[in-house]
Amino acid sequence: MIDVKEIRKDFPFFDNTKLAYLDNSATSQRPRAVVEAVADYEYYHNSNPFRGLYELSIDATDRYEAARKKVADFVNAASENEIIFTRNASESLNLVAYSLSEMVLNEGDEIITTVVEHHSNMLPWRLAAKKHNATIKYLKVQDDGSFDIEDLKALLSPKTKIVAMTAMSNVYGRVIDIKAFAKVVHDAGAYFVVDGAQSVPHSKTDVQDLDVDFLAFSGHKMLAPMGIGVLYGKLDILEKMPPFLSGGEMIEYVTFDDITFAHSPHRFEAGTVNAGGAIGLAAAIDYIQSIGIENIANRELSLTKLALDEIKNIPHVTVLGSDKAEDHHGIITFKIDGVHPHDIAAIMADNNVAVRAGHHCAEPLHHFIEIPSTTRASIMFYNTEDEVMQFVNTLKRIRPMMGYED
Ligand code: ALA
Repeated sequence: MIDVKEIRKDFPFFDNTKLAYLDNSATSQRPRAVVEAVADYEYYHNSNPFRGLYELSIDATDRYEAARKKVADFVNAASENEIIFTRNASESLNLVAYSLSEMVLNEGDEIITTVVEHHSNMLPWRLAAKKHNATIKYLKVQDDGSFDIEDLKALLSPKTKIVAMTAMSNVYGRVIDIKAFAKVVHDAGAYFVVDGAQSVPHSKTDVQDLDVDFLAFSGHKMLAPMGIGVLYGKLDILEKMPPFLSGGEMIEYVTFDDITFAHSPHRFEAGTVNAGGAIGLAAAIDYIQSIGIENIANRELSLTKLALDEIKNIPHVTVLGSDKAEDHHGIITFKIDGVHPHDIAAIMADNNVAVRAGHHCAEPLHHFIEIPSTTRASIMFYNTEDEVMQFVNTLKRIRPMMGYED
């Protein structure tokens, strides 16, 4: 059980705000322990990892590599060499789209992705397909936010080299049965790349059990600072992949004629790394583990249930996806008949509720469902019942405020 009053004391953000912060899928707030871990590193331990033979640099290297091990254990990677630090999930997906495509994609090949993808897990594949004269196929989504695995089987062909999909859409919040999809993809001989930006902060992730080839996620959606992200990849694949960026510390040996690239993960971490960010992410994982990911998921489920139970009695409000709280993981994306999402978000803001409006970087999905834009509230374990009701009560007033009588 979570004592939310106690937990909120860990987040200075809540000290002086009346804002009901329900934009957690865009970015989470940071607990003091994370900011202090970053500050401690920057104040007392900062030097360039991997570059110096003096004690301070060796210590910085050790701290950075300990953060990598922490991340590896968090997602149950078989080795810390399977964890590449990036800026965010977008950069992780660009890395794998570029490097994996360089390795496996030929003219006429096919990549499958889905209609719900965030632009970060769609555009890199489209650029890669264009470069290699390959084609993209799209798996369609059901009204309840789920996918039919039979649809995927029908799309797969001997030409399919890569399937890239989200584990949890940032619009629907529904967890996908990634393990079942991984089996189908691997049986067809393709690589399976998963966007875990929304799922990893909210549900237990075990990359070995899921058997994904790649998993991307961001630190800032799971209590860490912005600017640190992760790409997990199976080591045997990473060791064969060419680099994405080139520069310092990603080589073993270089002459004017020859380059031997370093092994993973360093092959994919050109230039000075974000050591402070990695240490912040490790502290965020410590914090999440001190609460327990199951407790986090249960708390978010109970707040989502409260919101959905209230919303179903508000006329003219339609929530996208399933009507079951357990299919939302805190993400409630909705429309109100006759009211533009930007007006909804502005009225929410006037009433101290932070939500996101627009297409949520999933514009093709909005074309697919033929709704130009939507509004999204996204809940995290540190939110309160009062904040959820602040959101619900504002929602009730929106149509009357816009002049509608029912
Ligand atoms: N990907 C983030 C969101 O869904 C920014 O809001």
